[in-house]
Amino acid sequence: MSPAAATPDNSRAQSCVVVIFGATGDLTQRKLLPALYNLSREGGGGGLGEGTTVVGFARRPKTDEEFRTEMRAAVQQFAKRQPFDAAGWDRLAARVFYHQGNFDDPAAYTALAEHLASLEKESPTGGRRLYYLSTAPTEFGAIVDNLGNAGLGNIDPFRPAAWRRLIIEKPFGRDAATAIELNSRVAHVFDESQVFRIDHYLGKQTVQNLLVFRFANGIFEPLWNRNYIDHVQITVGETLGVESRGGYFETAGTLRDMIQNHLMQLLTLVAMEPPVALDADAIRDEKVKVLRSMERLTPQEAARRTVRGQYIGGGGVIAGQAVNGYRQEKGVSPDSQIETFAAVKLYINNWRWAGVPFYLRSGKRLAKQGSEICIHFNRAPGVLFNAPAEKEGDCPPPAPANRINANVLILRVQPNEGISLLMNAKSPGNHTRIAPASMDFDYDLAFGSYSPEAYERLLLDAIQGDSTLFIRRDEVESAWSIVDSIEAAWARGLPSLSFYAPGSWGPEQADTLMEREGRRWDTLISTSAKELAVETTAT
Ligand code: BG6
Repeated sequence: MSPAAATPDNSRAQSCVVVIFGATGDLTQRKLLPALYNLSREGGGGGLGEGTTVVGFARRPKTDEEFRTEMRAAVQQFAKRQPFDAAGWDRLAARVFYHQGNFDDPAAYTALAEHLASLEKESPTGGRRLYYLSTAPTEFGAIVDNLGNAGLGNIDPFRPAAWRRLIIEKPFGRDAATAIELNSRVAHVFDESQVFRIDHYLGKQTVQNLLVFRFANGIFEPLWNRNYIDHVQITVGETLGVESRGGYFETAGTLRDMIQNHLMQLLTLVAMEPPVALDADAIRDEKVKVLRSMERLTPQEAARRTVRGQYIGGGGVIAGQAVNGYRQEKGVSPDSQIETFAAVKLYINNWRWAGVPFYLRSGKRLAKQGSEICIHFNRAPGVLFNAPAEKEGDCPPPAPANRINANVLILRVQPNEGISLLMNAKSPGNHTRIAPASMDFDYDLAFGSYSPEAYERLLLDAIQGDSTLFIRRDEVESAWSIVDSIEAAWARGLPSLSFYAPGSWGPEQADTLMEREGRRWDTLISTSAKELAVETTAT
């Protein structure tokens, strides 16, 4: 969110060549080509530069025409934001090409260099190149080495404007050691300013709004600390299972797949100090400080403060359909110990947050789909509403202090994007009864439903050289070291794996984690604010 990105940008991005490694994969079809197509159609501003060229690099032999036909079908299926525009697609497709090669074959990169040079002769892309690694993570290192050996990462000192940039998909390593190793491999070829490590949650409008919400409003920031906040909950729930990704999930699990990146990113944006400026390094400096202040858990702490769960089969139902258990999914071992649900309680040991628990939870096959951050403020003292009722109908029976609902600020990341503040109000009538009420901000109602997809924003930012919404080297390594401390305990069976039925809110141990401290999870995820308020007082 550089100053340029913080205000509406009416100019088109510079044209460039986007080389996608792993061009026949799922991500290319579902996200990357639809995003490039949408950006190519952004008429007035904020779109791809004229002549932007796309080169798909993958193993399978294929002609340009075959690749275009497949990508057209993908765009028709997945670029849902606006009705399909055949003429618009044809304009982009004329600049879409295919390059066949094995990721570990140096000759394929020499050929790629020649291919790019010849495309650049007939396009206005000025030698600017964006390499996108959308392959299996095991290929990242070899691709980077080969790009380096073929001279494809170098910036010509006589043509500094002909930039070379690299986007790397997640997962970036599988622990701190592998992330450090990959980082140093990348650093041999690319300067850190050329590297864009992606976390697509940062491309979501509501996630970017977290900083605007916190730092462009005067009323919340004075309360945003341990004096006023009791605890914070961050939930990312999915109703989907692992689908066709069982093989990958067996090497990852929810802690690595979701908590290390998406939830940790949400946490840093909630917890960071105001940056000295709205530029990439100033913002990322503050995020890294949060990660560095977070404790690494001992095995005993992990045993008590984390929960790992796996969804079982045998009658679980999601949206009226019986679904498989994780161990019955394709590519999953029948005695797998991998978690599809994780809940963790973490502390940030700095001046602002000391003693405030951050509860993070994510899982597959849960009761609801959605991502939400709930800031629970301290309860008001209950003295007044604790008083015995003077006349019949007045606030009876006396509510113990802790029965008055706390104020909760709910930041709904998706769906039903918006913000709600839960309050207590007097219900109508000749009595003094407290009823929940909420103040709501709804993105669609306030601004209309147009909202670019996360990958559109991130691709555009990388082309514009703005790395604010990408993860810096020290950030990824620090986030891994927190997760590593939990993984180390889990590898020793601390705590043991628990099980949950599909369509539930995860294993009961996750509820116990909260209940033993007199708290409970907000199961109110992504419903309308009205329902939220009712659910909050249901106990
Ligand atoms: C990906 C994970 O990074 O994020 C997936 O690998 C997960 O397992 C997905 O389903 C969730 O993203 P979103 O945008 O649908 O919340």
